Amino acid sequence: MVNISALVSGGGTNLQAIIDAVSDGRIPGAKMALVISSKPDAYALERARGAGIRTAVVSKAGFPDGESRAAELIRLLEDADTDLVVLAGYMSILQPKITREYAGRIINIHPALLPRHGGEGYYGSRVHRAVLEAGDRESGATVHYVDEGVDSGEIILQGKVPVLDGDTPETLAARVLTVEHRIFVEAINTVIGRLAGKGA
Ligand code: GRF
Repeated sequence: MVNISALVSGGGTNLQAIIDAVSDGRIPGAKMALVISSKPDAYALERARGAGIRTAVVSKAGFPDGESRAAELIRLLEDADTDLVVLAGYMSILQPKITREYAGRIINIHPALLPRHGGEGYYGSRVHRAVLEAGDRESGATVHYVDEGVDSGEIILQGKVPVLDGDTPETLAARVLTVEHRIFVEAINTVIGRLAGKGA
């Protein structure tokens, strides 16, 4: 059994897509072990509780220095016997201690076709605004491994959508989000397959 723990900060529609896929057998051999939010009021926490998944909050307010925040995250992830960490709309940058500890077992979803429109400062609607300002005719989503950089780890899977005339950051975000839900599940299966291949 592969124990998946998710880090979240927001509404959690990606988390929901993963919860649904695990519960209806589209991610065989996996179990949702824990959901950790960086924000106590994230709706993603409600989704996790509704699905009977353990939750925790590790916020900047609760753990102001990065060292203690990282230590708490690692403690919780280890306590849940985490095999795979998924960042599902997680809005904090993780300390290298964590990305090193979980190298090859921690993945993120980004709402653009990396390496375009990624890196520090490219999050939320800023990403979609940048796509529109650049005049790109297509966008999409990228699932990638998390390394010590921001949005710089090896790409696992991408899905594309067209950019349409008259798009706003909101309409583009909504189109990209449906692709996110699909490729996240697919990428998790890919990573689990790779981990199994390594005998993990
Ligand atoms: C998604 O667009 C994701 O790519 C980005 O944050 C958004 C989170 O949405 N990192 P949700 O919380 O999964 O609904």
